[in-house]
Amino acid sequence: MARVVVFDQFGGPDVLHIIDEPVPQPAAGEVRVRVEAFAVNPLDAMMRAGSSPAPVSLPGARLGVEGTGTIDAVGSGVTGVQPGDPIIITAVPDAAVNGSYAEYLTVPASRVIPRPAGLDVRQAAAIWVAYSTAYGALVEKAGMRPGDRVLVNAASGGVGRAAIQVANQVGAVPIAVTRNATKEAELLSFGAASVIATDREDLLEAVLDFTGGSGADIVLDLVNGPGQRELVTAARPDAVMVAAGFLDLRPTTPPEAPLTFHRYRGFEHTLDSAVVRRMAAFMEAGVRLGSLVPTVGTVLSMDDVAEAHRQLEAGTGAGKTVVVI
Ligand SMILES: NC(=O)c1ccc[n+]([C@@H]2O[C@H](COP(=O)([O-])OP(=O)(O)OC[C@H]3O[C@@H](n4cnc5c(N)ncnc54)[C@H](OP(=O)(O)O)[C@@H]3O)[C@@H](O)[C@H]2O)c1
Repeated sequence: MARVVVFDQFGGPDVLHIIDEPVPQPAAGEVRVRVEAFAVNPLDAMMRAGSSPAPVSLPGARLGVEGTGTIDAVGSGVTGVQPGDPIIITAVPDAAVNGSYAEYLTVPASRVIPRPAGLDVRQAAAIWVAYSTAYGALVEKAGMRPGDRVLVNAASGGVGRAAIQVANQVGAVPIAVTRNATKEAELLSFGAASVIATDREDLLEAVLDFTGGSGADIVLDLVNGPGQRELVTAARPDAVMVAAGFLDLRPTTPPEAPLTFHRYRGFEHTLDSAVVRRMAAFMEAGVRLGSLVPTVGTVLSMDDVAEAHRQLEAGTGAGKTVVVI
């Protein structure tokens, strides 16, 4: 039997509970992953609370869009991976019915990549969603190049930290935005070229000051909501803005400024094998060279999954919360 986290009604973290079910069998073209650890993400909390745009059907709904483990069994026709291989799961678009908060998961073989050497299980659980989102939004979508001044809000969060490191690996210049000046030293140590604390200074003035009056070349908005308008004012004409986050669910209208505006959903890339190959190569190189270092915050057991969601929602920005199975 296998343990799986499910919920039967929308609500707070305590709706999450564990059931036992038969170990799933991989179909043709699939692999079965023995999940060793998974990270919790804001999307999981939205799905649990009933505020996710993606449909979630109750009862028995599941969660989890990332995780790491070892290949446990392979279905017919699978080549290139074998039992015992350590892997990272690259896409779980059907998380509500087949999520990674489980001891075993079957996925198409195309949705796993080798776990980069040099990552322990907890880091491997925490790398994919944050870094693939940051890479996909900045490199694939915005076309980030060396020297670009890149404004990133929610920079102390999982995707924000990843964006700082991805920008540095490319040779771009990350400008980190936080609401809290006490996070400045940590963000600088993480590689931010400049930190704008909105409880201390005016965002527009600070960006203009740092960029010599020209404004940011790229804006990565991980929050959305009314604050997006202020970010737009800090972008130079013909800049690129990528809106990838939902931390502020208040409605906002797309900017009318002369910039290229993209809404970004990671699955548009993580279900595309050509892009996944580039993402995996970028991550493997970054881990090997030490420029991409996922930060793990609290590590909990599966029995404490509700606590993992409480910590996620507290938003301490102390690194990703990981559940080890
Ligand atoms: N498009 C995609 O494919 C994709 C993929 C992954 C994640 N996302 C989304 O990207 C967003 C960030 O994800 P994450 O994993 O980095 O989240 P996270 O780790 O939970 O981010 C936490 C940080 O965000 C900041 N924050 C929280 N609420 C905020 C608010 N209302 N206004 C401004 N800042 C706020 C806080 O930083 P400060 O206190 O320092 O300001 C906090 O430390 C989420 O909405 C997530 O759903 C999208």
